[in-house]
Amino acid sequence: MSRKPFIAGNWKMNMTVATGTKLITDLKPLVKEAKCDVCLCVPAILIPAMVKAAKGSKIKIGAQNVHFADHGAYTGEISADMLNDYGVKYVIIGHSERRQYFGENNDTVNQRTLTALKNGLTPIVCIGETLSERASGDTENVLTRQLEFGLHGVEDVKQIVIAYEPVWAIGTGQTATDEQAQETIKFIRKKLGKMFCVKDANRVRILYGGSMNAGNCKGLMAQPDIDGGLIGGASLKTDFATIVNFEK
Ligand code: 13P
Repeated sequence: MSRKPFIAGNWKMNMTVATGTKLITDLKPLVKEAKCDVCLCVPAILIPAMVKAAKGSKIKIGAQNVHFADHGAYTGEISADMLNDYGVKYVIIGHSERRQYFGENNDTVNQRTLTALKNGLTPIVCIGETLSERASGDTENVLTRQLEFGLHGVEDVKQIVIAYEPVWAIGTGQTATDEQAQETIKFIRKKLGKMFCVKDANRVRILYGGSMNAGNCKGLMAQPDIDGGLIGGASLKTDFATIVNFEK
């Protein structure tokens, strides 16, 4: 089953209307012939301006989170309706920084994922182990819990994108080796096959994230189970286009 490659950027808490518009304007001609799906997940307040900047290009604008309630007294949160107002398609859920600094856990990830799906958004569900969990041989248990709790009640797993982001590789310059990333993502796909069915698991796009850049993307993308990347730092520069054009 062939899966269309997907390169997504995560701007995290970076950029302004001016710098973001400039970057997207610079990226547009560079990604014109992209064969993969391309998305930039930008800070919520930048979504309207970045949607405008990316108009007519291959770049889709995504969000970095969505709340699980339809609306209500949730100060500081963003609802699915608000994202749909701007035609947002992809939304990151459960990024390790949300889990680490903002108290998110497998339960909130699950609720947000179900809400995203209910509202026609494609969740990019992030999972990954810390350095100490890997060192103590706990990686597979951690990922299993994140998948089983995080995706509980999901009916059609094909509508989800998974991003495997080992926490120790995020923003550290220490990328997982091609083999480490492949082996772990193969495990994730096998687990999805057991939770749902093998046929559907083979259609789920699973991205790698963690210090992926213009230099190491080709090796990672050549792995059979890696369908794309979730790019942090390198999505803040035109290097992002080199990753998008990894097939060239
Ligand atoms: P870096 O590419 O900066 O390591 O960040 C990865 C990431 O967290 C993407 O969501």
